[in-house]
Amino acid sequence: MFIGQVFYDLPEVTSTNAYALSLLSQGRPAEGTVVSTFCQTAGRGQQGNHWESEPGKNIALSVLLYPDFLELRQQFFLNMAISLAVCDLVADCLPEGVRIKWPNDIYVGDRKIAGILIQNTTSNKNISATVAGIGININQTQFLTKPPNPTSLRLETGLDHNLHELIAQLCLRLEQRFLLLREGQNRLLHMQYLANLYRFDTPARFQRDNGTLFEGLITGIDESGRLRIRIGQREESFDLKTIRFL
Ligand code: BTN
Repeated sequence: MFIGQVFYDLPEVTSTNAYALSLLSQGRPAEGTVVSTFCQTAGRGQQGNHWESEPGKNIALSVLLYPDFLELRQQFFLNMAISLAVCDLVADCLPEGVRIKWPNDIYVGDRKIAGILIQNTTSNKNISATVAGIGININQTQFLTKPPNPTSLRLETGLDHNLHELIAQLCLRLEQRFLLLREGQNRLLHMQYLANLYRFDTPARFQRDNGTLFEGLITGIDESGRLRIRIGQREESFDLKTIRFL
């Protein structure tokens, strides 16, 4: 196992992603280095949002990877691999209803249980380094931030879970998925991503960034990682921020 072989277990930190990025700026830490904390005071979410995590209750960690074999235009495969690994872990604990909400939220039913923040460093046309930040709600039962409907393993199973065991399992799941990516199994990752995609091939309502509502069917992900939706007789690709699930 290389993921988690070097492991920073920090009593408290503003953001494990920020910490991992600062390690990267000082040198070249071993691939698979994990920065983890049970007390993250300024967790970063997607689109500049804050990531809420009650101290001592949840997983908040970042993994350092060097996927320099991936071209920039293939970066969504990295997203697929990481999302699938987190989905695998949650599904190990919950047999039903675990899905990946495009692009990389993990949902149980209509509730978000985990979020992923991937920060890439690029050189020429390749991804030279990645910090994959993962937050999974484990034993937290009350949340301050309402949308988007947070849940946790504890809320879903009624049981407390052992954070250390889950972190070890997450490292394993990440390693399995990252090795597939390194082997070039992009088609397999793509297929499995779609097989686990929230509302895939299901009529659903969406909202455009201009406020217009419409009904459509998710048909897949295009080469740039955009969401493909069939609306009536035609298909459209959507970038992040241009569409909202209702
Ligand atoms: C999201 O908005 O859904 C992404 C949330 C990502 C949160 C994790 S927690 C560990 C890592 N460190 C951070 O500051 N953010 C990520």
